[in-house]
Amino acid sequence: MSTVDDHVYARVQLALPGLAEETNQEWVWTDDMEEETDVPGFVHATVMKTEVVLALAPREGTYVDVTTGGGGHTEAILEAHPQSRVVALDRDQTALDAARVRLARFGDRVTFVKTPFGRVAEALQALGIATVAGLCADLGVSSPQLDEAARGMSFRREGPIDMRMDASEGEETALELIARVSDDELANLIFQYGDERRSRRIARSVKRALGDNQLVTTLDLRRAIVRAVGPVRVGGVDPATRTFQALRIAVNRELQEIEELLAAAPGIVEIGGVVSILSFHSLEDRLVKRAFHAKGTWTSLFKKPLVAGEEENASNPRSRSAKLRSARRVSEEETKRGKYT
Ligand SMILES: C[S@@+](CC[C@H](N)C(=O)[O-])C[C@H]1O[C@@H](n2cnc3c(N)ncnc32)[C@H](O)[C@@H]1O
Repeated sequence: MSTVDDHVYARVQLALPGLAEETNQEWVWTDDMEEETDVPGFVHATVMKTEVVLALAPREGTYVDVTTGGGGHTEAILEAHPQSRVVALDRDQTALDAARVRLARFGDRVTFVKTPFGRVAEALQALGIATVAGLCADLGVSSPQLDEAARGMSFRREGPIDMRMDASEGEETALELIARVSDDELANLIFQYGDERRSRRIARSVKRALGDNQLVTTLDLRRAIVRAVGPVRVGGVDPATRTFQALRIAVNRELQEIEELLAAAPGIVEIGGVVSILSFHSLEDRLVKRAFHAKGTWTSLFKKPLVAGEEENASNPRSRSAKLRSARRVSEEETKRGKYT
């Protein structure tokens, strides 16, 4: 590999017996996480690119990047080996369009597919691909998705209360979800997906705003949350952060998608192939950790998840909550012989 940062490489090597300290830190947007971008194009800083690619160790073969976004990880896989190919998935057409431009120089080594990654097996089957040499996922949303007011994911920009990553599928918006569920269901959802202790108060206030026809835009939603819990920021975190995160996770079925991806992975990754998954909050990481512990299917490459280095954390706030887990697909035979337990 040509552009390997020596420090990162050393950390990955060291991590094989277990380097990174596991933290219980939840992922929350802090003040500096939603930075204004004045670039109208797709600008997203790729997280732990070197670590992801070193874990995959691309060779000749087909890989699948199930969260292509701006194409940062896909590009790194294609650059790492001249005979590597990538099937690049995303549920967001805007992301795929941007990646197509960025990756044009790789020609037919990359194939773009618009689909939710829960359907990765069907997507590969449609391309006539039975198994892949590796799979990577960089979960959650991209910076442009957060930045674009019309998507309604940000409490800083006035937009519709939408939050869908893919608005073309006719799925429920966040506002429709708020209207459909009961106060209790809304509170449970905010508690479960946002880890928000004040979820009951927030749910009541949001429902009241809806009943009073005061819930139209993201700023209305933030106002309803602030009415319930006050404007005080704790640790630089806006009081609307956790509720917005919870609604976004629910609208996009983010956890169900991860479960479907993890259930499909053993069937599509060839024996010896590697899966690398970057998570950004504990709900995601827990699912990945549990799946990789399945004996007879995976062996983890690192005892503990890798985290980003100081330099990356300083330049890209999003990387601070990233956890990378990588596992190699093993055969039942190998496990029976006692090689991987
Ligand atoms: C963090 S970004 C990926 C950034 C990318 N690795 C890069 O370096 O540019 C996550 C991407 O995953 C996509 N995504 C999230 N959940 C998805 C799902 N269930 N199916 C397909 N794509 C999904 C989002 O639309 C977004 O473009």
